[in-house]
Amino acid sequence: MKVRKDFLPLSRPSIGEREIEGVVACLKSGWITTGPVCKAFEDKFCELTGASHAVALTSATAGMHLVLLALGIGEGDEIVTPSMTFASTVNMIVMLKARPVFVDINYDTLNVNADLIEKRISRKTKAIIPVHFAGAPADMDRILKIAKRHNLLVIEDAAHAVGTYYKCVHAGGFRHIAIFSFHPIKNITTGEGGMITHTDDALEAKLRLLRFHGIERDAWKRYGKGGNPKYDISLPGFKYNLPDMQAALGLAQLARLDEINHRRAELAGLYMKGLKDVKGIELPGVPEYPHVHSWHLFIIKILSMERDLFMEKLSEYNIGYGLHFPACHRLSYIKRQFATGKGMLPETERAAERIISLPLFPGMSNDDVSYVCEAIREILKS
Ligand SMILES: Cc1ncc(COP(=O)(O)O)c(C=O)c1O
Repeated sequence: MKVRKDFLPLSRPSIGEREIEGVVACLKSGWITTGPVCKAFEDKFCELTGASHAVALTSATAGMHLVLLALGIGEGDEIVTPSMTFASTVNMIVMLKARPVFVDINYDTLNVNADLIEKRISRKTKAIIPVHFAGAPADMDRILKIAKRHNLLVIEDAAHAVGTYYKCVHAGGFRHIAIFSFHPIKNITTGEGGMITHTDDALEAKLRLLRFHGIERDAWKRYGKGGNPKYDISLPGFKYNLPDMQAALGLAQLARLDEINHRRAELAGLYMKGLKDVKGIELPGVPEYPHVHSWHLFIIKILSMERDLFMEKLSEYNIGYGLHFPACHRLSYIKRQFATGKGMLPETERAAERIISLPLFPGMSNDDVSYVCEAIREILKS
C-alpha cells in the first residue's frame, strides 16, 4: 500500500464555528476569567450527570488534588486504585503523603477488577478510585456495594467518561464524587480543564474555597456593580479556577457532545470491523453489563511482535499512536517509595506491555480508519 503523505495524529480536537463564536463572544464581553460562563458550564454539567454540584477547574489533576485535600486525606491513609491509570491520580495521593494501594484490572477491558477490590481494603482505607477506562464504565454497582459495606467514598476518575453511561446512569451520577478532564485529547475540551461533580453541600463550600485562594466569593461577584471588594480567608487555597474564556469553549463542545460521541462510536465500530480477523492483535474488550461507551480511546493489544517495533512501523506509515498507560506501580518513584514489585498485578503488567492507542477523533474520515487497518495488516505480515 502507498504511505500517506500527511501525518494522521492520535487525536485532534473537534473545534467548529460554534466554539469559535462562543470564545470570541466571551473575549468581547469584558469578562474573561471565571464568571457567568463558567457557572453556565457547571450548570450544564449538573444536567448531564445528575449531580447537584459541579466545580470547574484548570485540570482534572487539580480536581483530584482538591477532592483529596477537602476529604482530609493525608499521612497514614490509603486509597485503593488501579495501577492502570494516569499517574496524576497517584501523584496527588502521594503528594498528600497517603499511600496508593493498587488493584489489578480485567485484562480485556482494562477496567478495575471489582472482585479484587475488597482484598485491598484495610482499616486505613479512605476511598476507592475506579477509572472509566477509555470511556467504558467501571462496574459501579459492585464498587458502590463494596464502598457501602466499608463506609468508603468512591471518587470516579471520569477523565475519559464524558458521555459514558453505566446502566443508564451517567458517570458522576452515583451520589459520590467524580472528576472529568477537558485536556485536548479528551472527548470535549476547554484547552486544559476539569470538573468535579458531587452532591454534598459541605464539600461544595470547601472545594470552592480551595479552588480560589480560600476566598469566599467569586471575583466576578466582588467586582460587579454594587459588589463588595472586601474578603476574608478562612483557609488557604489554590488558584485552580477555570476562566470563562475556556468555559465558553467547553459549553460549545458540550452542546455538540452527542454528535462528537456518535462519530467516535462510528469510528470505533469501523476499527472493530476492519481489524476483526487480523491475527496477532487483540481488540478492545467491552463490559458485559449495559452501558454506553464514550469511545475516548481505541486501544488494541499487540501480541505477535515487539510493541516498540510496531510503534516504529506505525510511524513509517505516518500514523500517530499513544500509550494509555504505563502501569503506575512500575514507575521509578513508586517502586522506590512503595516497593511495588514486578508480578504483583499480573493482568495489569500483561496488558501494560501490549497496549497501544490508535488514532481516534471525530475529524477522522472512514478512509483514515481503513488506512490504519490496512497498515496494521501489512506491519504484522512483515
Ligand atoms: C485516567 C485519567 N485520569 C486523570 C487525568 C488527568 O487529567 P488532566 O490532564 O485534566 O489533569 C487523565 C488525563 O490524561 C487521565 O487520562
